Amino acid sequence: MTNVSTSAQPALERIPLAQPFQDQKPGTSGLRKSSQQFEQPGYLESFIEAILRVLPGVQGGTLVVGGDGRYGNPRAIQLIARMACAHGLKRLVLTTDGILSTPAASHLIRQRQAIGGIILSASHNPGGPDGDFGVKVNGANGGPAPESLTNAIYACSQQLDSYAIASSEAIPLNAPGNHQRGELHVEVLDGVHDYLQLLEQLFDFDLIGKLLRSPWPMAFDGMHAVTGPYATQLFEQRLGAPAGTVRNGKPLENFGGGHPDPNLTYAHDLAVLLLNGDDYRFGAACDGDGDRNMILGQRCFVNPSDSLAVLAANASFAKGYAQGLAGVARSMPTSAAVDVVARELGIPCFETPTGWKFFGNLLDAGRISLCGEESFGTGSDHIREKDGLWAVLFWLSILAHRQCSVAELMAEHWQRFGRHYYSRHDYEGVDTDRAHGLYNNLRDRLNKLKGERFADSSIAIADDFSYRDPVDDSLTEQQGLRLLLEDGSRVILRLSGTGTQGATLRLYLERYVASNGNLQQDPQLALSAMIAAADNLAGIRSGTAMAKPTVIT
Ligand code: G1P
Ligand code: ZN
Repeated sequence: MTNVSTSAQPALERIPLAQPFQDQKPGTSGLRKSSQQFEQPGYLESFIEAILRVLPGVQGGTLVVGGDGRYGNPRAIQLIARMACAHGLKRLVLTTDGILSTPAASHLIRQRQAIGGIILSASHNPGGPDGDFGVKVNGANGGPAPESLTNAIYACSQQLDSYAIASSEAIPLNAPGNHQRGELHVEVLDGVHDYLQLLEQLFDFDLIGKLLRSPWPMAFDGMHAVTGPYATQLFEQRLGAPAGTVRNGKPLENFGGGHPDPNLTYAHDLAVLLLNGDDYRFGAACDGDGDRNMILGQRCFVNPSDSLAVLAANASFAKGYAQGLAGVARSMPTSAAVDVVARELGIPCFETPTGWKFFGNLLDAGRISLCGEESFGTGSDHIREKDGLWAVLFWLSILAHRQCSVAELMAEHWQRFGRHYYSRHDYEGVDTDRAHGLYNNLRDRLNKLKGERFADSSIAIADDFSYRDPVDDSLTEQQGLRLLLEDGSRVILRLSGTGTQGATLRLYLERYVASNGNLQQDPQLALSAMIAAADNLAGIRSGTAMAKPTVIT
């Protein structure tokens, strides 16, 4: 990496923009739209211009840029390089082939003391010319930009009449190297290396390697997305698992036509392998950009809310967490399984709105060590994003220490803490007016619901969740409709902030059964009375004009 390729001082241009793009308001995780929308002349340029004008420290700063390998990544990376040059950045950190998972990006930002990063991904949404594209902005702490920053970026995008760009040559991304473009230094590095080093500090690779080299077949599904190269290097090359352990490990610009979301619907092949057969002891998958994870055992699906609780209860088996946890946090719709563990451990447990950004302050302030969401996201204070492969290694550490199966570990966990039966029903692609109508209708009735019968219990509290951040005291309102029942059960209704077609309505259901109750029911059966009552109360099937949910988790 000693050769620095230089090019003549690039000319700077200022290109006019006809009019602001009104739909550039970032959602739960950045700006996510169809690839076609992003291909409108000036669309991507306008949003990048807004980022580079608003992000603190651009003049003379370092920026990390990469993505999940989806369609549109190479164009966006080269565009950002030229615009970074025009905006006075000092250093740009890129990766070979532009491949950079969201957790690895978070780590690089922190390690390089960058002012932040731009991650080119629409996470678990399908990719390709007819799929989705996305731009996520992360701040200097390595985490998703807080709402104050995304609001400022949006406001700026609405005022723009031009963008600045240098006429510099394209950066070769096929190999590591250093390149100079005017005042901008561009470093292209291997996006996998530093991230795996971080994971090695947290987990005992010798112990996990022993397990993976023993007759203990594991299957990892990269879903043709960003984690393939990371997982192949980690599991097969570094830890010695047999070749072929990583499936669908080559990133493809359309994810092989799949939907890179690790759940029972979209990671169907892996689910069949683990749940219907006995050839594998452990299975895992990650999403498009590598921050989500699904954990499966032999004939056993681990609910993500339970996964967080299991990690918290067994943290002493992972080297990086053996000294104890400062606290834990979960998003509001995530089940309270981790709350029960936290109570027993005597550590604080925080409940935040949906979206990883809400964990940022708690992590930065050292108030929590682990956190997670029901949507297959788990993570810790090692970075400021959720981390798919980290979660897989955490599970492998526990199983290597405990020498038991996933199903045994779950059964033991429920024996000790009781079980939170849990399910999320998604109604995707609902007509936007219908979805909002149904939602607003329930919201308007909330204050009349207290005391009403609901399934086997009655409603103790009905509200629209709001969150007061304990670190900076900021207030976030209207984060989801909650029905809290007398018996501790919960029903939550939210509208998704990440969909790109119509509206997605999410119904979350949770019922607690203490350790002396029936712990081995099918969740849909255990929740059936609540599912019917929720439909009755909110008119979900009639309101959405859908007979059943599109995805049940
Ligand atoms: C979804 C998940 C949420 C997660 C987000 C980004 O957001 O529900 O937990 O943080 O994706 O991965 P939603 O579509 O519900 O707004
Ligand atoms: Zn993701």
